[in-house]
Amino acid sequence: MTPPDGPEPAASIELAFTLNGRAVVARTAPIRRLADLLRDALGLTGTKVGCNAGDCGACTVLLDGRQVCACLVPAAQVAGRGVVTIEGLAADGALDALQAAFHRHGAAQCGICTPGMLMAARDLLSRTPRPDAAQVEDALGGVLCRCTGYRKIVEAVLDAAGAVTTIPPTPTLPLAAAAEGASAFGWGGGSGDVSGETLPPAHSSLSPLEGEGGEGRSSSGVVGRRVPKVDGVQKLTGAEIYGADRAPADCLWLRAVRSPHAHARFAIGDLGPLRASFPGLTLVLTASDIAGANRFGIFAEHRDQPALAEHHVRYRGEAVLALVGDAATIAAIRDADLPIAWQALPALDTIDAALAAGAPALHDATPDNVLTRGRVVSGSIDAAWGEVAAVAEGNFETSFIEHAYIEPEAGWARRVGDRIELTVCTQSPYMQRDELAHVIGLAPEQVRVIPSATGGGFGGKLDLTLHPLIATAAWMLNRPVRCVFSRPESMAASTKRHPARVWAKLGAARDGTLVALDFRGDFNTGSYASWGPTVANRVPVHATGPYRVPHVRALTRAIYTHNPPAGAFRGFGVPQAAIAQEQLLDEVALQLGIDPLDIRLKNALRAGDTTATGQRLEASVGLAACLEALRPHWRRARAEAERHNRDGHGTARRGAGLACMWYGIGNTALANPSSMRVGLKPNGRVTLYNGAVDIGQGSNTIMTQICADSLGVPMDRIDLVIGDTDLTLDAGKTSASRQTFVSGRATMLAARELHARLLRLANAGADARLALADGVAVIGDGPRARRVALADLETDARGDVLSGEATFDPPTKPLDANGQGVPYATYGFAAQMAEVAVDPLLGTVKVLHIVAAHDVGRAINPQQVEGQIHGGIAQGLGLALMEEYLPGRTENLHDYLIPTIGDVPPITAILIEDADPLGPFGAKGIGEPALIPTAPAILNAIHHATGARLRKVPATPDRVRAAILALGKK
Ligand code: FES
Ligand code: FES
Repeated sequence: MTPPDGPEPAASIELAFTLNGRAVVARTAPIRRLADLLRDALGLTGTKVGCNAGDCGACTVLLDGRQVCACLVPAAQVAGRGVVTIEGLAADGALDALQAAFHRHGAAQCGICTPGMLMAARDLLSRTPRPDAAQVEDALGGVLCRCTGYRKIVEAVLDAAGAVTTIPPTPTLPLAAAAEGASAFGWGGGSGDVSGETLPPAHSSLSPLEGEGGEGRSSSGVVGRRVPKVDGVQKLTGAEIYGADRAPADCLWLRAVRSPHAHARFAIGDLGPLRASFPGLTLVLTASDIAGANRFGIFAEHRDQPALAEHHVRYRGEAVLALVGDAATIAAIRDADLPIAWQALPALDTIDAALAAGAPALHDATPDNVLTRGRVVSGSIDAAWGEVAAVAEGNFETSFIEHAYIEPEAGWARRVGDRIELTVCTQSPYMQRDELAHVIGLAPEQVRVIPSATGGGFGGKLDLTLHPLIATAAWMLNRPVRCVFSRPESMAASTKRHPARVWAKLGAARDGTLVALDFRGDFNTGSYASWGPTVANRVPVHATGPYRVPHVRALTRAIYTHNPPAGAFRGFGVPQAAIAQEQLLDEVALQLGIDPLDIRLKNALRAGDTTATGQRLEASVGLAACLEALRPHWRRARAEAERHNRDGHGTARRGAGLACMWYGIGNTALANPSSMRVGLKPNGRVTLYNGAVDIGQGSNTIMTQICADSLGVPMDRIDLVIGDTDLTLDAGKTSASRQTFVSGRATMLAARELHARLLRLANAGADARLALADGVAVIGDGPRARRVALADLETDARGDVLSGEATFDPPTKPLDANGQGVPYATYGFAAQMAEVAVDPLLGTVKVLHIVAAHDVGRAINPQQVEGQIHGGIAQGLGLALMEEYLPGRTENLHDYLIPTIGDVPPITAILIEDADPLGPFGAKGIGEPALIPTAPAILNAIHHATGARLRKVPATPDRVRAAILALGKK
């Protein structure tokens, strides 16, 4: 069911229409939303609901062959007409040509938007069988996707229409050929936006597996291949089950009541009259019902957020009580029915207000409202300024950013004896299990978290949200309870990207060698700690960007304010820092007359260099290769832009900008383990017990590829058990770009362990080859082959005859008081180039093209890596140009703008493979690195086009126009 959004009208009609080619008759209220009718009454949950307001397009279906938003169509309007949903696209679970093209191109990531995309594309192709890219963008323009960056969706539709028949192969070129090969795939070179390249650096000829090849595993050779998603078919057919899609029929509904004030005291009066007025109201939960600590957080020392507020709220949207009952009842209860007395208080809504002398403390433990300080200091910053020939300095500001995953938070809970089970969309099942147990007063073993499919997360589904509420209600009532956030509720209540205020000063010698960086960053962490400490500690480590800077002082603070909690969002503060650091680097280059690419290359970290934290980087430092791969694109783009501006084509100005990034994979100087198990069943099938949840980034497929090649079996012999805390080991959170690197290595080691056990069982040497068939393992050891009848072996509690388990915890060293240590075992590196057109009269910015070169260590699945790059770029574009969350004003997807299909330009992705010795097959992470350089590259491109420097983002037209006008006043 979809969340109740109002009382169900009593009157109903008998409605006859055609649904997916079959005649149906349904009894329903005439003004019921078609989306609700399809999902709730007819059980077709392939049609998704992301907003119930016509903004996201997730609910798109065909009505008489034309796309409509099913959330806006009253049921009565379909009488006598034909409706087609995602379930009607193909018969018997097979994929039609359009779905198959989406599958081939990796056009579905989390998959929550995919049904809507497919239906809109089906409408287009029925009218325009041979569309061009612009027609595809027009037709799909009403459907939002937060994961893919849209380009692979466009490719897929064109492919299905026969306009594009194949994806260009990904060449593996020696580094010397990189520049030439890169230009061959350049934008405008005929390959459109479907290009991709894989370039190994000169010194990475061996992958770690090859280097460690004494164990003699046979390889099925799927690592490095563009394998379609193992869970792609269910996403493309509407069969995937997300948090709102399924729950027991006897579930009660829960709806939280939230504060309308940013700061207030409140008292809950007599609930008796409310209960008497609404017989369908089963329970009203208040803070006194939360049996445990009623406090949660990411770090044990910062558990400051209540599941339900206790007389005091600190942000607009904080939950104060929860209504539990039948859907119609809890939807019918209005604020005026509730006995809540509010006393609004002055809100400290900015960093300045929270830091002002005499400002009251949000939390007793932090009288100055400073949650955490971060610090990295090396060299002699104050003395260093005497060595510099060029200095750039400035203040920069970023805004709250909403995750805007298309699937709002959803799930259900039930009590099973003395345990509680939750089925929820999540990116951190184990962490949520342990934290939930603390909040509601149970032992962790009494809590089971079963992840549903998750329709995007990006950091926003790490924290607890509805979990303590549905768990407590289900526990108290001994009856299942479910909750689905509405879009406004999701946007008001969930965490956000930290707004940042950065001052920085960067100095370089005459030849462009960077000498000194002084950096101070204040991060608005909102009302509760969440991931504020992570942001404050990660940013100073990354403040230099991926460059050698001998003299550094980077100081940060996370500051409490009366705003929504700022949490984890793809990059943990590094994207905000990069906006300052990469723009200053361009200013230094300009002062010195050095090309922006050359100054980056000159200072780029390389293997053997030491970072500002004193860490020596031993290997897998591929930034220079990224920059060299960009060089031909850069030369072309700069020349084209300058020619355009010189020749005066209209009023629009063109520009090209660069930015680089580095990103430490995994937690900052903290334990970061992942454990995996691989089991072998008597029938010869392999089970990967995979605790790493896939929120769209593709870890289900990546782990299967790694498992297959580590064990030497085909992928289709591997079954997945995913995320269930009762059935898998703790693989840690899906965050910080860690799953491929950390859980991937744990998977590889577990599979190797199973492989070794099998060989030992057969008394075979380490070089023996393994083949699995139905009920038998065949071990080839030289000329002889030994067959092991698996059914003859004893099974364990999981039904496996043999298994391998492994844990990998990347080696790090704690940071000392000056931030010296080894914060990460490895780093991702990247350089991106943006080409823009700026209308100086309107202040509008159109991004024309992005070239993104990323050192990913090894691309386990190049298509998925490209998908992450595209999606990260789209979010980086939103950060640069349009996204700004304003509490109380942008709590929906029409006032809060995210990039649409028309906003994301063609993207040329270049993959650099500088293998990491610890990574599985050399792989590192890509999720966060993809986003970080995009915004500063766009901002540098705007400067190249106009001379205007944007110091506050998003660079909305009014800000761009103001910056251009300010140039004339200088
Ligand atoms: S759910 Fe219908 S447009 Fe968003
Ligand atoms: S794949 Fe489009 S929203 Fe996730």
